[in-house]
Amino acid sequence: MKRRSNTAAAAFLLGATLVSAQTFHRLGGCPTLGCVFPPDQTDFLSGQLFDIRLEVHAPINGSEAHNAGVPDEKFTFCIQNGSKGECKNATQFFGVKEPALEKWTFSYYEDLFARDAKTPAVVNVASKAYRALSLTKPGDYVAKLKYNNVSQTVAHWTVRQPATTRKAKNVLFFIGDGMTQPMITAARLIAHKSINGRYQSLMQMDQMDNLGHQMTHSLDSFITDSANSATALYTGKKSSVNALNVYADSSKNSFDDPKVETIAELFRRRIGGPIGIVSTAYIADATPAALCAHTRDRNQYAAVVYEYLNSANGWNTSLPWPTSCEGPDVIFGGGAEQFIAGPGSPNGTDYYKAFADKGYNVIWNNTALQAVGTSKKTLGIFSVSNMAKWIDRHVLTDNLKGQKNSPNGDGTDALDQPGLKDMTLKAIDILQARATSGNGKGNNKGWFMMSEAASIDKMMHVLDYDRALGELLELDDTIRASIEHLKKIGEYENTLIVITADHGHGFDVFGGADTKYLAAQTDERKKRDAIGVYESSGLSGYTVAEGSLPTNDTIVFGSEGPNFPVQWNPRYAYAAGFGANPDHRESYTLNQNGPRVPATKGDDGTMHVNPTDHTDGFNVGGTLDGTQGQGVHSLQDVSVFANGPGSEAFRGVYNSIDIFFKIADALALGNAKN
Ligand SMILES: *[C@@H]1O[C@H](CO)[C@@H](O)[C@H](O)[C@H]1NC(C)=O
Ligand SMILES: *[C@@H]1O[C@H](CO)[C@@H](O)[C@H](O)[C@H]1NC(C)=O
Ligand SMILES: *[C@@H]1O[C@H](CO)[C@@H](O)[C@H](O)[C@H]1NC(C)=O
Ligand SMILES: *[C@@H]1O[C@H](CO)[C@@H](O)[C@H](O)[C@H]1NC(C)=O
Ligand SMILES: *[C@@H]1O[C@H](CO)[C@@H](O)[C@H](O)[C@H]1NC(C)=O
Ligand SMILES: *[C@@H]1O[C@H](CO)[C@@H](O)[C@H](O)[C@H]1NC(C)=O
Ligand SMILES: *[C@@H]1O[C@H](CO)[C@@H](O)[C@H](O)[C@H]1NC(C)=O
Ligand SMILES: *[C@@H]1O[C@H](CO)[C@@H](O)[C@H](O)[C@H]1NC(C)=O
Ligand SMILES: [Zn+2]
Repeated sequence: MKRRSNTAAAAFLLGATLVSAQTFHRLGGCPTLGCVFPPDQTDFLSGQLFDIRLEVHAPINGSEAHNAGVPDEKFTFCIQNGSKGECKNATQFFGVKEPALEKWTFSYYEDLFARDAKTPAVVNVASKAYRALSLTKPGDYVAKLKYNNVSQTVAHWTVRQPATTRKAKNVLFFIGDGMTQPMITAARLIAHKSINGRYQSLMQMDQMDNLGHQMTHSLDSFITDSANSATALYTGKKSSVNALNVYADSSKNSFDDPKVETIAELFRRRIGGPIGIVSTAYIADATPAALCAHTRDRNQYAAVVYEYLNSANGWNTSLPWPTSCEGPDVIFGGGAEQFIAGPGSPNGTDYYKAFADKGYNVIWNNTALQAVGTSKKTLGIFSVSNMAKWIDRHVLTDNLKGQKNSPNGDGTDALDQPGLKDMTLKAIDILQARATSGNGKGNNKGWFMMSEAASIDKMMHVLDYDRALGELLELDDTIRASIEHLKKIGEYENTLIVITADHGHGFDVFGGADTKYLAAQTDERKKRDAIGVYESSGLSGYTVAEGSLPTNDTIVFGSEGPNFPVQWNPRYAYAAGFGANPDHRESYTLNQNGPRVPATKGDDGTMHVNPTDHTDGFNVGGTLDGTQGQGVHSLQDVSVFANGPGSEAFRGVYNSIDIFFKIADALALGNAKN
């Protein structure tokens, strides 16, 4: 993709210190006092809907103080076709009415000194927003905001030339949340047998036809969260941390921020086929939510569930947004607290009933999942909060007890939870049936599904490497089974399969550890003698049964067949570390009692080693500030694997936003006559 100069975007700074590009923003994506959203360097799919938000800031104090805090209300905004044409005002360019002027005030800390001194800079804002617009003609556009007599903010926009021929009928998009290549490598080590350094079997991901990798940076920070990165993957637009399919503006209301249309909304509006959302997280979590929801704040869980069923209109706003997921045909995951009538559900109402009233089958366990018919839209909510992890569902099943997480809210345990594979295979059947029958409009124009292995990320956050790798292996097993299933139903050749992550974690394996020796030492430094590096790192103890061990510290696992470890807690374990971690302890043994809690709050109110975690291990000093009790996301590029029609486009190195355009092109979504 060609690079454009952004020198034109630098407005006159009028002597202000440029602080907002650093860790504390006045407003991310707006380094000057005039803000244009979509900002400079935005690409659009032809016909994709978006809002425009303009803001003119007048800080009353701080290093950027301007005009005694009186914002320029007479700012102008125009858009130019190409680099030369006439710059037409937005009302004329888009043929819309001039919106009303909005005004508000917000404050922010310029830096850590201001934060410690509790002296926020206060900013008055004049703003306008234009709603639900689109650009259809491919080419370059220049949007100009003129303000404060002499300043201007210029945004270069490009409508990419869209594909006119559709290659893929169906899209199966897998996200391994937080999944990196070091994790895939570690999962291969523990689940696939190697002889003299050569694997005897491979991960399914290893066997995909096309491999690329994508850069995950966000609009205003180089580390992203899952809301922000899912927005990039699903809309082709960079955004800010915590934002779902909107550019974060500075107003208080988290539902009035400028929206962009998602791949799922475009698929509904332009193709009309069924869509599916599957995740092992609570279903209002960011990665599933980002297919349909629009809010600056990913924590608006009730709103997310409301938007699945309805649209971005009607929940605390009546702003025009003439596109939606129209109620996805399949929604499978956890998160019953957004459906059981109560504090977490939309307006406190029974949202299972709201879905059932709109024609959904509603199911709560794996038995019902296996039995449910394929003709109706289906909501499957299988637990309160995140679903159980693969290790706890298959190996340490006692950990499912005492959770009181039954999705029907009766306080019993959700013991019959499906896995990602069960959910994904059933979702394929429902989508396929609805794509070809009258219920799903019957146009046989294909389907779109996103399936997320959410707890790779969630378990990496808590440094529970084994559980994270179990989730990764389950994702790989799901991909393998999905390919087989698609072949069986005759849709494999029609289906673009893309597998990627939304960001990384700084995890890697650096050696092996003799866990028995480690546990036997009492001296902290002596414990570290148990770690073997280079020639002492050893071989994988996970792929062979260790029947000779004298103690009961191995868990033999045989019923799932190949592609998973034979045992999860060998004497000779892998030794791994993390790039950004709280104070914690390592002993390289499986957490037997469920997901790990590495750090807990100490008497000083900050996070310290959890006194009950890995008590026989040694201390590892934290690298994060004392508020962080978990690891955090990292910078690294993440892999993209693809098979099927349109998959060649996924080779090479590109940006997260390009994934949206590559999928849209495989479906010819930029072609209005699709
Ligand atoms: C932009 O200008 C080009 C010619 O310079 C023209 O073909 C195209 O239709 C114009 N697009 C719009 C949206 O006015
Ligand atoms: C936009 O331009 C048109 C045509 O020049 C003009 O009639 C209209 O008043 C302008 N609107 C604004 C808000 O400047
Ligand atoms: C700005 O003014 C507000 C009061 O209006 C004050 O609380 C704040 O400390 C001031 N900030 C700075 C950076 O001076
Ligand atoms: C615009 O210029 C006038 C005259 O110099 C000045 O009084 C006014 O404060 C300026 N407005 C802004 C918003 O900077
Ligand atoms: C709902 O909208 C009002 C303005 O209409 C706003 O003040 C409020 O903050 C909004 N609620 C949320 C959760 O954003
Ligand atoms: C929530 O309840 C209020 C008052 O009962 C009603 O006005 C509003 O429309 C409801 N919102 C939704 C999203 O159902
Ligand atoms: C599964 O859910 C159904 C209700 O949908 C219930 O009747 C059944 O007992 C549940 N089965 C198990 C094994 O929990
Ligand atoms: C191993 O654990 C199982 C299940 O907890 C138990 O029944 C068995 O007696 C144990 N075996 C040994 C050798 O400790
Ligand atoms: Zn995360």
